[in-house]
Amino acid sequence: TITAVILCGGSGTRLWPLSRKSFPKQFVPLLGDKSLLQLTFERTSGLGERVLAVAAEDHRFMVTDDMLAARVAGAVILEPAARNTAAAMALAALQAIQDGLDLLLFCPADHHVPDVEGFLRTIRQGVPAAQAGALVTFGVVPSFPSTAYGYIQRGDSRADGSFHAGRFIEKPDLARAQELLLAGDNLWNAGIFLCRAVILLEALEAHAPDILLTCRQAMADAQVEVSPSGHAFVRPEARSFGTCRSQSIDYAVMEQHDNVAVVPFEGQWSDVGSWNAVADLQVPDGDGNRVAGQGMVHHSSNTFIHAPHRPVVALGTDNLLIIDTPDAVLVAHRDKAEQVKDVVTRLEQAQ
Ligand code: GDD
Ligand code: MG
Repeated sequence: TITAVILCGGSGTRLWPLSRKSFPKQFVPLLGDKSLLQLTFERTSGLGERVLAVAAEDHRFMVTDDMLAARVAGAVILEPAARNTAAAMALAALQAIQDGLDLLLFCPADHHVPDVEGFLRTIRQGVPAAQAGALVTFGVVPSFPSTAYGYIQRGDSRADGSFHAGRFIEKPDLARAQELLLAGDNLWNAGIFLCRAVILLEALEAHAPDILLTCRQAMADAQVEVSPSGHAFVRPEARSFGTCRSQSIDYAVMEQHDNVAVVPFEGQWSDVGSWNAVADLQVPDGDGNRVAGQGMVHHSSNTFIHAPHRPVVALGTDNLLIIDTPDAVLVAHRDKAEQVKDVVTRLEQAQ
């Protein structure tokens, strides 16, 4: 069996004003009536009986609500502070060893993966490579030179049915991304990792020993509590975890490690990372407009409206994103969707 480890600690600032610090995008019913996190629990529930979630203390009840809704059992590791994915994954791998779990599937909490069967088939294809000691990544065929993703070079095929990852390049600049796209043998890192818990710990020991050490100390003094919903809350010790270096697993381990395998991702995948990505999931009209909820467009083109609460009308607009929420509105040029996070930083400073 495979234990899913769901990483729920991101802040999703590029989806402001729908995604907020107190209510980040993984907890928002962004597409339909279930949150992305509940859908993630449901999607991975076919793999094993229990899950591990890693989340911020403040979000613990939103996580257990989604676990209840998806009918999954397991534990939530509550980080006293956000220290990025290398630390979050280290905590989960240490907990897994203690619980006697072996194969772990690390999954982002905030992706849109509609084809559940294709997803499960893809994951199972990675099992032999993971059992043989590789860190298994999953690669999506790139469609444009994104600077928001990691790139994995698809090398020769391995005896276990996956491919060698030639090199792993996290978030290249635009020129490099264009080169990687033209080269033709690079895939986007889907952000999903399959490996044995001990192998991840060995890789952390080799490439980021300081992160592993602080996580070991924090887990040695962890407190466990049973939540009202019957899930376990595991609280790593705050003082040692607070000193942990903050780095993503991509920079800390994946770029350095030599035994990385890649399995091509089957089916649709979106990391729903920006409003453009959300817009692209809706069917456009003949002028490229996409309208959700009570939005209406007139003489407009390439305009996206998210309006779940009241009528929002765009007249004669082109290339706009219009996001309406009860207490804040975003109007942005579609080319500037990535910069929404900068606006959030400014708003925080202004407060
Ligand atoms: N528990 C916890 N703690 N979770 C975290 C933390 C943390 O400190 N930081 C991030 N996460 C969670 C996020 O909620 C998300 O589900 C996942 O870890 C990945 O983090 P992101 O911050 O969304 O990473 P990214 O999108 O910039 O880049 C990663 O994903 C891309 C695909 O979406 C990389 O792996 C890229 O290489 C990859 O292409
Ligand atoms: Mg992401």
